[in-house]
Amino acid sequence: MSQLSYKAAQLHIESVALPELAERFGTPLYVYSKSQILANWEKFRAFWPSQHKLCYAVKANSNLAILQLLAKQGAWFDIVSAGELKRVLAAGGKAGHVVFSGVAKSEAEIRFAIEQGIGCFNVESAAELERIEQVARALKTRAPVSLRVNPDVDAKTHPYISTGLKANKFGIAMDDAMAVFRRAHTLNHIELLGADCHIGSQIMTDAPFLDAAQRMFSLLERLRDEAIELSHLDLGGGFGVDYQGEQTLDVQSYLEGVLELARDYPQLTLMLEPGRAIVGDAGILVSKVEYVKQSDDKQFVLVDAGMNDLMRPSLYQAWHDILPVHERPGVADAIVDVVGPVCETGCFLGHARHLNVQADDLIAVKHAGAYGFTMASNYNTRVRPAEVLVEDDQVWLIRERETFDDLIRGERLIAEE
Ligand code: LLP
Repeated sequence: MSQLSYKAAQLHIESVALPELAERFGTPLYVYSKSQILANWEKFRAFWPSQHKLCYAVKANSNLAILQLLAKQGAWFDIVSAGELKRVLAAGGKAGHVVFSGVAKSEAEIRFAIEQGIGCFNVESAAELERIEQVARALKTRAPVSLRVNPDVDAKTHPYISTGLKANKFGIAMDDAMAVFRRAHTLNHIELLGADCHIGSQIMTDAPFLDAAQRMFSLLERLRDEAIELSHLDLGGGFGVDYQGEQTLDVQSYLEGVLELARDYPQLTLMLEPGRAIVGDAGILVSKVEYVKQSDDKQFVLVDAGMNDLMRPSLYQAWHDILPVHERPGVADAIVDVVGPVCETGCFLGHARHLNVQADDLIAVKHAGAYGFTMASNYNTRVRPAEVLVEDDQVWLIRERETFDDLIRGERLIAEE
């Protein structure tokens, strides 16, 4: 993130020193840069004519203030639950600007989304299509629908976040797609609007995306031959960020590639669903070093953020850069394992890192803006962190730290005999 820099030997985000934020709000603490989020958004917007839509994938970071910020930029939203739809609405977004993905939508979620005036359901199976038809019939309306097709391309990403292969649970197999489109076209309570795909996440080159897009355009051609005209094509999200300083996909060349493929469809609205690329590098997790412990040939830095706060290292062996908040020029780095307080060997933030820290120092885990807080849990009865948004020297607390009372709300003791 270009919004991180050392000034007077202290790490700052925008113009704010991290020790100040830690002092004010405590640790662990998620901190996001508003300027970085806006810059990331603009990277897509600049090459995407306004006829086309960018649907921010809410699951990456669903804090209301961030949804509000993006809604103000004209974002549409990609959601996967009624809860995420409620968040969009609470943040001032419009249901009509929301696409609803997700493999196992419940009847109640479908009803709620139709009642709110959802922009489109991204339908994942023939069975879901029938369910939406039934719910829409009961509500005496027509439900706007796109069919999610599984284009069977290998996105070459971590197996847990690859979604576009035949073997994955997502979408309708390409071989079955025509039949389901024909069916959708004939249903009375379905308004068939589009087709969609999403091949995975943290994808670093445009080749698999363009491959998938090409397959989707040939599907559109076959549909056109049968006089089934779609008004939109949604190519999903999945654009990678440079956790380890890697080369990322060139957004401009990808978007231009898609626009080129769409040249025979001037009426078609194109949609993308970026999540990580908008917020990933705009957030850090600030944590305090509790102890430094030497054990045999290893040095452990024990910090107050754990796998419950940032699950990605434990779940995907994901690598996040870790920076010391206090610079100590002239003191050599040690090679350390940065580990959290949760009682699992898998609770770590980074292994074999070159760091120079002492007890009571702060560290900053980079690129924690996407799938950080949203995947946090209360494991080990740990409250989830506070979240703060920063722009220049302005600071907003956008989520209070949870309390123990929040955690036990709803729990009941049983009556004694
Ligand atoms: N659209 C659909 C239908 C999706 O399933 C996803 C992500 C996105 C858009 C946004 O993808 P993005 O642009 O953020 O890559 N927890 C994992 C990532 C899981 C992504 C799931 N789907 C991680 O921390 O790496």
